[in-house]
Amino acid sequence: MYNLCKYYISNIIISQFYMRERNETGFAEIGDIRRKIISGNIGPDAFRKEFGELYEKYAGEGTLGYDELDSAVNMLLQIGKLQIPTAPRERGSDNLVYEPTPARLIYDMIIRSRMNEHDVLYDIGAGIGRVAVLANLLSGARANAVEYEPVYCEKAEAIARGLNLGPEKVNVIQGDARDVDYSEGTVFYLFNPFGGKTLEQVIEKLRQVAEKKNITICALGPCTVRFAQEAWLKKVEDVGGTDGKNMKSPMPAYDGRVTIYKSV
Ligand SMILES: C[S@@+](CC[C@H](N)C(=O)[O-])C[C@H]1O[C@@H](n2cnc3c(N)ncnc32)[C@H](O)[C@@H]1O
Repeated sequence: MYNLCKYYISNIIISQFYMRERNETGFAEIGDIRRKIISGNIGPDAFRKEFGELYEKYAGEGTLGYDELDSAVNMLLQIGKLQIPTAPRERGSDNLVYEPTPARLIYDMIIRSRMNEHDVLYDIGAGIGRVAVLANLLSGARANAVEYEPVYCEKAEAIARGLNLGPEKVNVIQGDARDVDYSEGTVFYLFNPFGGKTLEQVIEKLRQVAEKKNITICALGPCTVRFAQEAWLKKVEDVGGTDGKNMKSPMPAYDGRVTIYKSV
């Protein structure tokens, strides 16, 4: 019964995600940007500039829901239709359904966290890897997409390889977030992948990584509250800039943005 509910919720969220795309006639600049990515002719600085222009043109206001920037990103990544697992794999009641982070929040988070090419990102509960792919393109960070559902992992692989981004840039890890080795990670992103004991176990794994080096945790949704309780993490107000390049996020400081914590 619980899984059936999760399946229906997942269907509603994902159909809202695609609704706009069906209404769009197309984005003239996307084909050109996609070609540059595939040919390897665009680095993080140039891609951030192009993406900033897409943001100005297409991002909506507020933090809830999807907008035309998501449609542009879906086209850039050639996401196409998504097969939603009809029988989500049994992982216990902690684990939540797939819901993509709106693209404007991803862009805002990457700038504010100062993610750069020296970073190793883990998107824990990555869905089809939108955050991992955009993070690699926007910052140059090596991005790991950790996802339990094989069907989402296949899609994430297809999206990344379709853009000519190999595993050294976007690496897809199919498995349970509790079993992954995070020791290489410097930045971790969690958009409400799970709660309960699973979240506790993953927080403990991240705390152990933070004993050895400084890490950044970016959180969105109800799991954010749990990170706020950890004494080894300090919430960072608007750091701004990526890679010391003094960039500023165009997004106003809404409460609904991704919260960024640094280990102390
Ligand atoms: C809310 S979605 C977020 C997707 C992506 N991070 C984004 O922001 O676009 C959460 C994802 O976590 C995955 N997930 C849930 N429990 C998991 C677990 N124990 N291990 C790995 N992935 C899990 C779900 O299948 C789902 O795709």
